[in-house]
Formats: sequence, structure tokens, C-alpha cells
Amino acid sequence: MALPKDSLKSDFPIFNDSDLVYLDNASTTQKPKQVLDAVMAMYTDSNANVHRAIYDIGSKATEKFENSRKNISDFINATSEKEIIFTSGTTESINLLAHTLDNSLGPGDDILVSEMEHHANLVPWQMASERTGASLKFIPINSRGELDLSDPEKYFTRSTKIIALTHVSNVLGTINPINDIAGIAKEIGALFIVDGAQGIPHQSIDVQDLGCDFYAFSGHKMLGPTGIGSLWGKMELLEEMDPFMGGGEMIENVSMLSSTWNEVPYKFEAGTPNFVQAVGLSAAIDYLNDIGMTNITKHESELTSYALEKMSQIEGLRVFGSPKNRAGVISFNIDGIHAHDLAQFLNEDNIAIRVGHHCAQPLLSSLKENSVARLSIYIYNDKSDIDMFCTSLSTIKGYF
Ligand code: ALA
Repeated sequence: MALPKDSLKSDFPIFNDSDLVYLDNASTTQKPKQVLDAVMAMYTDSNANVHRAIYDIGSKATEKFENSRKNISDFINATSEKEIIFTSGTTESINLLAHTLDNSLGPGDDILVSEMEHHANLVPWQMASERTGASLKFIPINSRGELDLSDPEKYFTRSTKIIALTHVSNVLGTINPINDIAGIAKEIGALFIVDGAQGIPHQSIDVQDLGCDFYAFSGHKMLGPTGIGSLWGKMELLEEMDPFMGGGEMIENVSMLSSTWNEVPYKFEAGTPNFVQAVGLSAAIDYLNDIGMTNITKHESELTSYALEKMSQIEGLRVFGSPKNRAGVISFNIDGIHAHDLAQFLNEDNIAIRVGHHCAQPLLSSLKENSVARLSIYIYNDKSDIDMFCTSLSTIKGYF
């Protein structure tokens, strides 16, 4: 048992008096009482706009908001909390980069992504490529569902200006070799952006050790509220970049015809930030720290092996991908049953999984599938969830 308590479910109100088996954690995670209380306390005790008010509750809100930035910074071992930009989530973080870095791109330059990207780390680069004339290249995947790095010179060249890769595939569960790719990026002088949406909730992250230049993530996939996430970037790069959105707070001086910019990170935080949600995310980080990220990784890894073993006993069930380094995401189909039917029947047993293209249509095309079923695990899942899921699958198979 990797976790300090037998079951964490009692901390999560959604599981109280419910037989819900929630296995859609790559989509979003449930919230512990500690996070809900932190959000409620902000609205009841400290609800005032941050960085503007000089009255007491305004100062309190600002202090809690900035303490949250520090907590996130410590969680990922950033050099300074000023390297943490609050965004609405991974999608906004990556769009921010695609827009602000595009002035360094032009014809003859390459942006390198992979075939396993979520649309959030593909479409913004397609748009940047359209705007700038830079070419979009991609690393294909091998038969195990890993990045095919057998011929690196083919993809990593002196024309590669930006490498944008997912840390963990939201479909295959593949954990990509970020350190190795960071080494290559350095050699060829490319900026390296990591989509950490499925990485940071499940493993300890040290951005300095990872060696990337930017790391983007969402709060709601790591027990935090929706509408909040972060972009971490190296200070010297953030300082050089132009702002993304214009508005209040991101300015230093404004005249009728021009403006100058606030310092990093505020230069990138136009308008009222989601300060309540930021404090909720900080409470989620406290919760994760209490459990311990190493314990979380171990627990999920044990549960993933257990699920794979049990699923292998179901005839006609095909799992997509067999990466050597795998997180708790398993995509599969059962011969003769459409993934959507499967999800509907599982729902009858109050079991929640996601089916569809998982915002990764190019990856699904490479698997030659239109729709796959996916279970994804988090800290509150246990063997009984997997047992109920597999029993339900076997029963559903019986209907068809
Ligand atoms: N990115 C989320 C998922 O993979 C929504 O389900």
C-alpha cells in the first residue's frame, strides 16, 4: 500500500454515500474537501480584487494569491515564484507561447511536435505556422505507442526553433523522455515546451532538473478548481517575450496611443486573474504534498499494472500502446462493441470513463480508430474500482 491511508475517498465529498467509480481522471479530477473549503473561504472571507484594493480584505486576497504562486513555484522547484504565470489552464498557457514566440519564427524555421499531441499542443502551433510561414513537423510514434526517436537527425535539425511535446500522452499513457529531448533541444538551440497537463498531477516535477524551457499545466487535473493553471518559463525568456493579452494589470504606463509593460509575471496576466481558483490550486498542492508525490506515483503504477493484468483476461479487449514508461492511462476497445455503447453500459453501473477521440484525432488516425475507450486513474482509485470496472465489462460483453 503506497498511500498513507487505506482510502482517500472519505476526503472527497463526491464519493460520500455513493457507489461512483470514477475512472475519468485524465479529463478532470474530483476535489477534496480541503480544496472546496479553501475556495469557499476565499469567497466568504477574502473576496476582493487582487493587486488593486488597499483595504483589508483586498490585502488578504492579494497575500493568499501571491502565496499560492510561491507554493506552485516550490512544488515544481522553479528558480523564483516570478516564473509562474497564472493562466486558465494548459490550453491558454500553450496559446500564450504560440502567440508570443511567433515573432521569432519565419519561413525556413521548423516547429516540432509529435503524433501523440492533444489538440491543445497541436492546433496553436498549426495557427502559428500559418501566421509565420514556419513549417510544422512531427515525430511519429512506434508500435508500442512511444515517440519514434530511432532517427533523431530526421526531426531535430538546426531549423528546429521550437519543440513542443506532451510529457504524458492523454491516450496511451506514454511518459516521454523529457530529459533526453531537453538535451537535444539545447544542442540544436531550440526552445523546448512541455505540455505537462497529464504529467504534473502524477509525478514529482522539478523543472530545473527536467531541462525544458517552459512547462504548462492545469489545476483541475490535479485536484484543483477549473479555470486555473500555470505556465512556468525561464525568467530570461519570459523577460524577452511580448505580452499575450492586453488590459489591466499587465501595464506599467498607458497613454492614448501606447503603453509600457509591467514586470514578469504580471505582464502576462491581463485582467482580473482567477485568484480564488489559484488559492484552490494551492490547497490542492498542499493535499498532494501531504500524501507525497512519490507515494502517488507508486500507488498509480501498482493500480495500473493491476488493471492491465485484469483487462488482459477479458477476451477481445485490445489495449492501445504498450509503452515501457506508462502512467495510469489505458485506452482500449472491445471487439464487436462500440466504445460509446461501452461507456453507456458502464454508466448504468455508475462507472465513469471517457470515450471518443480524446482531443487527439491525429493519434486516433494513426491507431486506425475513430473512437477508443479510456480509463484513467488517480490517487483515490483503488483495486475495488478496477474490480467493479472489469466485472461490469465482462457483463456488458455478455449482452453483445
Ligand atoms: N484533456 C482532457 C482529456 O484527455 C480533457 O480527457
